[in-house]
Amino acid sequence: MVFNLLNKEIDSLTCQALVVFSKASAQKDKNPKVTHSELNKKLAEVIAEKSITGKLSETVTFREMGYKGFRHVVVVGLGKENSISHEDVRQASAAAYQALKALNVKEAALHFDGIATGKKDAADFARSTVEGLLLASYVFDELKSSKKEDKKDAKASQEMTVHVVSKLANDKAVKAAFTEGTILGTTVNFSRRLGDLPGNLMTPTLLANAAVDAAKGIAGLKVTVWDKARIKKERMGGLLGVSMGSDQEPRFIIMEYKGAAAAKKPVAFVGKGLTFDCGGISIKPSAGMEEMKFDMCGGANVIGTLLAIAKLKLKINAVGLIASTENLAGPSATKPGDVHTARNGKTFEVNNTDAEGRLILADALSYATELEPQVIIDAATLTGAMVMALGNTHTGYFTRNSQLKNKVEKAAGESGEWVWNMPLTDHHVKDMKGTYADLSNISSGKGAGSATAAAFLEQFVGEGIPWAHFDIAGTGWAVGNRLNYCTPKGASGVMVRTFVELAKQYV
Ligand code: BES
Ligand code: ZN
Ligand code: ZN
Repeated sequence: MVFNLLNKEIDSLTCQALVVFSKASAQKDKNPKVTHSELNKKLAEVIAEKSITGKLSETVTFREMGYKGFRHVVVVGLGKENSISHEDVRQASAAAYQALKALNVKEAALHFDGIATGKKDAADFARSTVEGLLLASYVFDELKSSKKEDKKDAKASQEMTVHVVSKLANDKAVKAAFTEGTILGTTVNFSRRLGDLPGNLMTPTLLANAAVDAAKGIAGLKVTVWDKARIKKERMGGLLGVSMGSDQEPRFIIMEYKGAAAAKKPVAFVGKGLTFDCGGISIKPSAGMEEMKFDMCGGANVIGTLLAIAKLKLKINAVGLIASTENLAGPSATKPGDVHTARNGKTFEVNNTDAEGRLILADALSYATELEPQVIIDAATLTGAMVMALGNTHTGYFTRNSQLKNKVEKAAGESGEWVWNMPLTDHHVKDMKGTYADLSNISSGKGAGSATAAAFLEQFVGEGIPWAHFDIAGTGWAVGNRLNYCTPKGASGVMVRTFVELAKQYV
């Protein structure tokens, strides 16, 4: 998808399709309005007979309408006037994209001044318009042979161009927001692709290579990758222990972004990069096991976060640490009862080899602690219990730091991603005590599986360092039933946008 922000009179353009918007009235029994005044008059009858209601994401397509230089006109609902949020705009733009795709058009003009009513919300809405279009345009079809053929046919693969037309197009803030939306949409889609690639094509080595390749040419961003020998030397007993059941080597990926003075403490992001989780010796049931290729989405989304932060040139220092391995059941695999030692010296019994995410994160969090960061934020598809608790709407997060909680809430408010604060107490910590080693990797109590997992992670975070853990088990993929800018089955790239908003608070 190609975009451009155009400062032109929209009616003077000529292209295949025009997208305008509609808003429902705040007053009961009052007709909705099409936000393009001439089309509002032209479509008066359609509005009167309630074929256009202004309902959020409603799309009404007028094929071959022949309005001025446009063949087709699409009217997209924004919801009730006066209460339109940036998330509504994101969803309406996604709906617009889907309608354009259904029309099979290659070029369209979007009446942005129908979304933003003035300078106040223009920047915010410009960003969400671009995000909605870009996120909705994501497809993962590179493994279909028919699509490969299509790509050879230049005409068939010609990308869609959308002209976002606004009289505010030359406004500095609108321009910057437009660029930001493009960066965010692109990096989220980048992370989604990593998630969607199957385990055989997304091994720890390939995940590390993808991070290295993506960072090439981005100013201030450096990527270092540790192989198995180095991981061993660095005493990462959790990551090494989990990797022992697989022929694939583990990787520890370090992304460093320098956007501020060297003395400024970094913001640390940590991700679970489990490229396939069969559960190990405590093997998972086969039904649905294929979904465990998504167990690296936390890692993929941290990679996306660092790419976005660097592309946005945020004036902070940031690190991204991704522990990556497979969890398989080969002859050398960790067995239930085995004890490993994490990088910070703490020992743990592996009483269930399927609770492996916390073991690899233990080393990554220990390493993050050594960097003396301002804050540590981690993302992981950590527990099935999270899916039970919150389903696939909200990402559950854990933190004992109230200031950080406020920051997270603010960031999520800006990004539009739903988060929910979960409890983490000393009771949960107690449940994770080991019998033979310091810790057990499963709880001795019943229930609260996400909180006890978080309590385990907490043992590897240095005292005094603000830390928040995001369990994306329910939101990392298959959230397209809730969000029209996500594919029904694939990875969502969740938390990239929220993490970038969080990072901005450390500028
Ligand atoms: N990767 C899974 C968690 C998961 C399950 C994510 C379903 C998304 C959907 C994780 O490694 C795991 O298997 N956790 C176990 C922990 C248990 C053994 C304490 C779980 O949640 O069942
Ligand atoms: Zn597991
Ligand atoms: Zn897992």
